[in-house]
Order: sequence, then C-alpha cells, then structure tokens
Amino acid sequence: MGQDGGRDQSEDELSRRSFLKRSLGLAVVLAIAGVAAVTKSLWTPSSAPTEVFPKIKIANIADLQTNGYVTFDYPLQGESNMIVKLGEAATGGVGPDGDVVAFSIVCQHLGCVVGYEASNSHTPGPAGACPCHGSVYDLVHGAKVVAGPAPRPLPQVTLQFENSTGDIYAVGMGPPTIFGHNTGSSDVSYDLQGGTPVTQ
Ligand code: FES
Repeated sequence: MGQDGGRDQSEDELSRRSFLKRSLGLAVVLAIAGVAAVTKSLWTPSSAPTEVFPKIKIANIADLQTNGYVTFDYPLQGESNMIVKLGEAATGGVGPDGDVVAFSIVCQHLGCVVGYEASNSHTPGPAGACPCHGSVYDLVHGAKVVAGPAPRPLPQVTLQFENSTGDIYAVGMGPPTIFGHNTGSSDVSYDLQGGTPVTQ
C-alpha cells in the first residue's frame, strides 16, 4: 500500500511536470504569434497594394514589334510608362520570350521624359536615354543606371501575361518610387496613394 501510494505520488509529479511543460510550450507559441501579429500590423500599408495597383490591360503580344514601344499611364493618370519588346530575355520580362518589360519614363534625375534606344554605347542591349543630362538606363537589367546623374533605376511596372489570349496586364509597380512622388517612405504603394488612379 505504501509502495502504491509512492507510485501514485510520482505519477502525480510526472503529470504535473508534463502539464507545466505543455503550458510553457503553449505560452511560448502564443507569445511568438502575438509578436508576429503586431509586427505584421506595423508593416502593413494603410491601403492594400491591390487597391493602389489596379490590374489594367496594356497591350496584346501580337501588337508589339521588337524594339517597338507603347506608352501608357500607370498606376496614376499622368504618370507615363513605356512597354517594350526588347528582343532578348530581360529582368522581369514576360511573354513567350521573356522580353516584354515596362518602365516609368519619368527620369529619376529631374523628371525629364526618357526615350527608347534599341542600342546605346553604354549598354550591351536596349536602353532608356534621357535627353536632358544624359542618364542612360539598361532596360535588359531592370533599368539600372549605366551613365549620367540619375541616382536610381527607373521603376519597373509588374506585368502579367495571359497565355490563352496574349493579353498583357499591368498589375503593380516596383521600387524605387516614380520621380516626384517619394514621401520619404520606403513603401512604393504608400507613396503612390492620393493621385487619381487609372481605370480600365
Ligand atoms: S532629368 Fe534625366 S538626366 Fe537629368
């Protein structure tokens, strides 16, 4: 009987320890979940990117010739971009050959309009060239600056290609922010709120 009582006590002790371990584990999980939730709420823009960046049809692949480009406003009215078929696969490119890209054409130096050049002495491939102070952007490699005073690449429009129809849509805008809109935030979707969005 004494031995049974001892076993009961040790079993109780084991159950207590097991319960405490499980409770502690649960508390840690809840604490981590709480921190994650607070962090997420701090980083989430006041408006979801889908509200800032509408999905707009820009062109059909059949309408684009190599080195031919079309301009369009996005995501705000009056903010011009070009969509171009470069003829070689490019960073962020869509379409059967991965060579269709779109960029803001507002120069990141002082806001002049950037033109398209099928070849340029500063790039191995097609370029965006600003006539004002000579900034040159490499359109095959994310419009990185290869010449001139521009401090940042041209913002790239995120494109979506529909295989079944050949339609190409603008669905977002990557960093940096379009020249003239930077608020000091590092969040492009926040910077571009407040203007008049383009609509289909
Ligand atoms: S505005 Fe384009 S280089 Fe100065």
